[in-house]
Amino acid sequence: MTGKADLKLVMLMGLACLAVVCVHGDDLQVGRFSGDRFAEEIRRMRALKTSSVRRDSVSSPSPSPGPAPPLQVGTSPRVYPATAYGADPTGKSDSTEALLKAISDAFQGPSDGFLMEGIANLGGARINLEGGNYLISKPLRLPATGAGNLMIHGGTLRASDDFPTDGYLIDLSPTTSDSLSSSSSSKYNYEYITLRDLMLDSNYRGGGISVINSLRTSIDNCYITHFTSDGILVKSGHETYIRNSFLGQHITAGSDSRERNFTGTGINLMGNDNAVTDVVIFSASIGIMVTGQANTFSGVHCYNKATDFGGTGIYLKMPGLTQTRIVNSYMDYTGIVAEDPVQLHISSSFFLGDAFILLKSINGVAKGVSIVDNMFSGNKGLDIVRLDQANGAFNKIDQVVVDRNVAKGMNIKATMARGSAQGNGTSWTVDFSPVLLFPNLIKHVQYSLSSGDSTFPSHALRNISNNRVVIESNIAVPANVFVTVDQGLSS
Ligand SMILES: *[C@@H]1O[C@H](CO)[C@@H](O)[C@H](O)[C@H]1NC(C)=O
Ligand SMILES: *[C@@H]1O[C@H](CO)[C@@H](O)[C@H](O)[C@H]1NC(C)=O
Ligand SMILES: *[C@@H]1O[C@H](CO)[C@@H](O)[C@H](O)[C@H]1NC(C)=O
Repeated sequence: MTGKADLKLVMLMGLACLAVVCVHGDDLQVGRFSGDRFAEEIRRMRALKTSSVRRDSVSSPSPSPGPAPPLQVGTSPRVYPATAYGADPTGKSDSTEALLKAISDAFQGPSDGFLMEGIANLGGARINLEGGNYLISKPLRLPATGAGNLMIHGGTLRASDDFPTDGYLIDLSPTTSDSLSSSSSSKYNYEYITLRDLMLDSNYRGGGISVINSLRTSIDNCYITHFTSDGILVKSGHETYIRNSFLGQHITAGSDSRERNFTGTGINLMGNDNAVTDVVIFSASIGIMVTGQANTFSGVHCYNKATDFGGTGIYLKMPGLTQTRIVNSYMDYTGIVAEDPVQLHISSSFFLGDAFILLKSINGVAKGVSIVDNMFSGNKGLDIVRLDQANGAFNKIDQVVVDRNVAKGMNIKATMARGSAQGNGTSWTVDFSPVLLFPNLIKHVQYSLSSGDSTFPSHALRNISNNRVVIESNIAVPANVFVTVDQGLSS
């Protein structure tokens, strides 16, 4: 009995906490109240909230109702509301300077020691866009003084018609170009910056977000559109985590008459150790361009531009050093291209509309590649994995496993295969060339010869050239041969 009563109480307290959170937002303590005291507390907090709504504001240049109370440095919450700086949430007038001032104030706000050496801990300061739509005419570039533990969230940024086409709406790079060129890994610009719940409209002028030489950056629930360069550029640094986001040059839901003309890149990763998780790229010439190592992709849905129209879903352009994992993703009429893959894993993904994986030889290297347990669907009978050997054949092949994929309307390619042949004579041939990925390469063969004949022939493996396995016997017998081949084992 008491158990039940306790449960009710807990539920009531749960509701109470929820209500308090709703009323107070994130700048007041969450308390636990019950009954009348709770209702009274709500009324009191509401009143307090109304009177203190601008207590974290600085003096506002915009015509705002009533004078803002003085900013109490040190006791005020570190929330920097865009409108308090005169930013125009209707998107009519330019808000660049106001937003830059909010950012600059946040950087100069109280800090609690350091994250990485030299990176001030801003303690979770928030630049709140308050659901507004702001027009900006130049990039919101973070100050050069390294800082971290800061969030920009909750609104729309739109590039003006004179926004620089080489710029990004939000730019995590220091203002001086000289510190950019240093590739030192011991010094980062920013750490733990979070960009969340943002719509970024580049207005066909430049890109959305640029993250340079930063550490542990989060890009979460962002909708980035109308970019002409990159939706998101990540360069140097590491651990930029991009998740639950939507990127597209044009706002479309597929089958768009302009698709052949889509340009730009959804996400350009020129760095290591980043993750792209649950992200849709719905319009761009290249969905994700990767020129760094040890990046991971999961739950990515690319329908950015069909391969037939010259598009690529994920392009791994780092010959010899990819170290990339692509799992649980959806390549929708657009595929994956990997140059000289070394340590590449692609699994549990779905390829629709004749989308395929292209391994492109640059120096002939394919090592440590597994493409397993994927689904392919199409209607043109294309190979699920193809080789581009225009620059020379793959000739350094080691530990490549393409196996256990399933296909409908496409041709399975694999590095392991089984086959059989039946005949009455001295020679049996099983031709694996339609299925094996690499031409004229068999590293391992196993076979058995089965015959019900009264004689026991001697037999041997005679030839594997051009992926055709030939077994011969010394005398003619009616027999079946069963053969297993593998291209991928180490030589
Ligand atoms: C694509 O671009 C070409 C030239 O750049 C233009 O002539 C054509 O009309 C465009 N197509 C569509 C569907 O926008
Ligand atoms: C196999 O071929 C031989 C001679 O060509 C013939 O005598 C024999 O009947 C054949 N066996 C079967 C099972 O067809
Ligand atoms: C294996 O077969 C190919 C033709 O497929 C032939 O050119 C080659 O000489 C054969 N090798 C041997 C050892 O018989």
